[in-house]
Amino acid sequence: MPNNNLWNAKNAKNDEFYTQYADIEKEMNAYLEFDPDVFRGKAVLLPCDDPEWSNFTKYFAQNFERLGLAKLISTSYAPSAAMYHRQPTLWESSSPLFDPEKTTVNGKTFTLSRDVSGDGRMNVNDLEWEYLAGDGDFLSEEVTRLRDEADVIITNPPFSMFRDFLAWTVKAHKKFVIIGNMNAITYKEVFPLIKSDRMWLGATGNGSDMVFGVPPGAVVAAADKEKAARLGYVGDYTRLGNSCWFTNLDHGRRHQPLPLMTMSDNLRFSRHKEIRGKAGYMKYDNYDAIEVPFTDAIPSDYEGVMGVPISFLDKYSPEQFEVLGATQRGCHDAVPDTVKYDDYWEVRQDGSKTGSSGGKTNENANLAGNDGKKNYFINKDGRVIQSAYQRVFIGHRRPVG
Ligand SMILES: C[S@@+](CC[C@H](N)C(=O)[O-])C[C@H]1O[C@@H](n2cnc3c(N)ncnc32)[C@H](O)[C@@H]1O
Repeated sequence: MPNNNLWNAKNAKNDEFYTQYADIEKEMNAYLEFDPDVFRGKAVLLPCDDPEWSNFTKYFAQNFERLGLAKLISTSYAPSAAMYHRQPTLWESSSPLFDPEKTTVNGKTFTLSRDVSGDGRMNVNDLEWEYLAGDGDFLSEEVTRLRDEADVIITNPPFSMFRDFLAWTVKAHKKFVIIGNMNAITYKEVFPLIKSDRMWLGATGNGSDMVFGVPPGAVVAAADKEKAARLGYVGDYTRLGNSCWFTNLDHGRRHQPLPLMTMSDNLRFSRHKEIRGKAGYMKYDNYDAIEVPFTDAIPSDYEGVMGVPISFLDKYSPEQFEVLGATQRGCHDAVPDTVKYDDYWEVRQDGSKTGSSGGKTNENANLAGNDGKKNYFINKDGRVIQSAYQRVFIGHRRPVG
């Protein structure tokens, strides 16, 4: 039997990454550049953000007037507060609302909607708070009610609950800006949103090193600590190389077309040795598509389907391309398998076996069978199946008529 307390502690620990003010500001600036009124008159909900340590709350409270917000609501989650920030702050403990029992088990809600201090300005000093009836779980009825009231939902949600959080947000048809992990792109709950342009990557930080605060004393790999320090964050910080923003708010980056060369120019001049000097682009064995291993090697004049790295989505402009699928189960209806294998050895790009196999697997197996199980391969030499890296299928979007 797993020890639930231990498991929960581990899980919670993986969820404690605190977003830096500068990253939030950079990303919000991209939406504001595109539409200076994007937040005007809006109610913004920050559903995983205790203002005692959330820079999201700080940013939106400090910029409340400039953004023209109608209301800011921020909710905190009691279990992580109790585990990682054990002492209630002076702010809470000196308040007449303070309750020594509730402080460890009840979440809190912080609202900014009026000039409480009477200084003629709306800012962090005007935050009003109260205990929630429950622990502040975003899935609870009371936080869900706050979601329903809000126009825009913004946060870095717990990583372990990303799927639930996204589903919870999308279900309410709200605007949102949330931090996640690049790997989430190919989740079957996530990819359809990207394919149908109901969600896209944000404007900054995607897949590049982003620094996050961690609870005091948390164990951080030395390399990550160093990287964070090199970016100016010394102490309880780590860095994650594959975080990204997911949003359905528009920004200018996604309307900038990628500059591209023709296929023949790529084959002659590409900076990638995998392309330059080759006779042509590789074709998948089981998809009617070409393999494009680098986003900057997408040929401008290829009319068919192209498989590109997931990081392409950071450069994706819906006016230039359409997203057709991904090489994951359930994500490529529009790019069907042209062949499936019963018997195969799967090897990595470097030729080493992955351990995955099917049917009467052996190295001499007949690979020509249909109705097999595996579905994302390049047939390397007619005998061995080479797994391709995860790819997104795209096509050029050409003007109609
Ligand atoms: C990745 S951290 C980010 C914190 C903050 N949003 C930020 O960006 O600095 C996720 C936070 O979600 C909170 N959390 C964990 N599980 C939650 C749940 N079920 N409902 C609401 N919040 C939760 C924890 O308090 C944790 O600090």
